[in-house]
Amino acid sequence: MSEAFAPVDIIIAKRDNRELSNEQIDWVVDAYTRGVVADEQMSALAMAILLNGMNKREIVRWTEAMIASGSRMDFSDFDAPSVDKHSTGGVGDKVTLPLVPIVAACGAVVPQLSGRGLGYFGGTLDKMESIPGWRALLSNEEMADVMRASGGVICAAGDGLAPADKKLYALRDVTGTVEAIPLIASSIMSKKIAEGADGLVLDVKTGNGAFMSDLARAEKLARTMVEIGNDAGVRTRALITAMDVPLGLAVGNAIEVTESLEVLAGGGPSDLVELVIALANEMLDIAGIDADPREAITSGRAMDHWRRMVSAQGGDPDAPLPVARHQHVITAPVAGPLSTLEAYGVGVAAWRLGAGRAHKEDEIIHGAGVQLHAKPGDMLSEGQPIMTLLADDEARLPAAIAELEGSWEIGGEPMDRHPLVITRFDENTRG
Ligand code: URA
Repeated sequence: MSEAFAPVDIIIAKRDNRELSNEQIDWVVDAYTRGVVADEQMSALAMAILLNGMNKREIVRWTEAMIASGSRMDFSDFDAPSVDKHSTGGVGDKVTLPLVPIVAACGAVVPQLSGRGLGYFGGTLDKMESIPGWRALLSNEEMADVMRASGGVICAAGDGLAPADKKLYALRDVTGTVEAIPLIASSIMSKKIAEGADGLVLDVKTGNGAFMSDLARAEKLARTMVEIGNDAGVRTRALITAMDVPLGLAVGNAIEVTESLEVLAGGGPSDLVELVIALANEMLDIAGIDADPREAITSGRAMDHWRRMVSAQGGDPDAPLPVARHQHVITAPVAGPLSTLEAYGVGVAAWRLGAGRAHKEDEIIHGAGVQLHAKPGDMLSEGQPIMTLLADDEARLPAAIAELEGSWEIGGEPMDRHPLVITRFDENTRG
């Protein structure tokens, strides 16, 4: 087959800071998916995009080309509006687990295609897989059956969804090109638009434990994604939220499921509850549903939806969750207020304990993680536990303890923290 362009011409155009035409973008994304554009050529192009950027038209077209590389889902058979949430990821971010059944209990359809963790960010599927019997991989029919049974589903995205992104994301990961805002925005939004929900709420995190640690860059990414989504006909909003300290008190897999169940039972740490409710309100508003997510919790309906959703995916909602074999408690050496507790150090420690993976094929230790007993501002007496490290393999403890040194402090200057919800972008936001 004769090809419309030579890859090197497109690389040179972006290297020289010229705009790519729609035809060039369509071709290069398609040709890369087909294997005609080689990895080294796409790497060079990704680096040129990272250095020279893309304008709005180029980003939108790149997103559309990635959507066109695969199939699109469709929930129009359901009577209720469908709405989805995406988080850019953070330490202790288990929001999806309680959020899906809460929003489903309020009357929306919630198809939540989720991922696994890589590096120190936990993945929603890894957390859910702590539940004995629960299956992440569903066919489209099974996914629809779970949604009919419970209003929501949390499952893995099939291979057919934006395959160009899968290939490109793996390449960016090893070529230092993950950080390019046009590539991040198009990567996330191609998958979310292909998922086919009517509405989307983005939780873009910023702070030391976030992938976008800089607030201005997080805002730029959020604005870009909100505009792409709304232009593609998906009602899209974003909250920029703080990831300076871990969210809630549990960082791991099984312990994050337990904390999510506390929220569904009407308890749970206040920061986690506040964020779940803020996101639920945005999702319901976008879906045009006038309902109170707190009432869905107190009435027990959200918990019923959770139980139905877990059972419909083969899980036993009553089964005991995995527990780590070894514990190490870090206690306060002196009395005073906990002034610092950085999300990043806690996230890396949990990962070193076995809660996350270093390579795609690594196994997760579902009982491993860090259970916090205090958050910044809490007063501690001498000897009071600050956190408990949980591992199956005792040999993992020293590296995790070392990682935490310098991540927490008692009696120092209070750490710089953002408010939990920093900014909100809605359908009227332009990039
Ligand atoms: N998450 C994605 O899905 N893609 C990116 O590029 C970054 C984070």
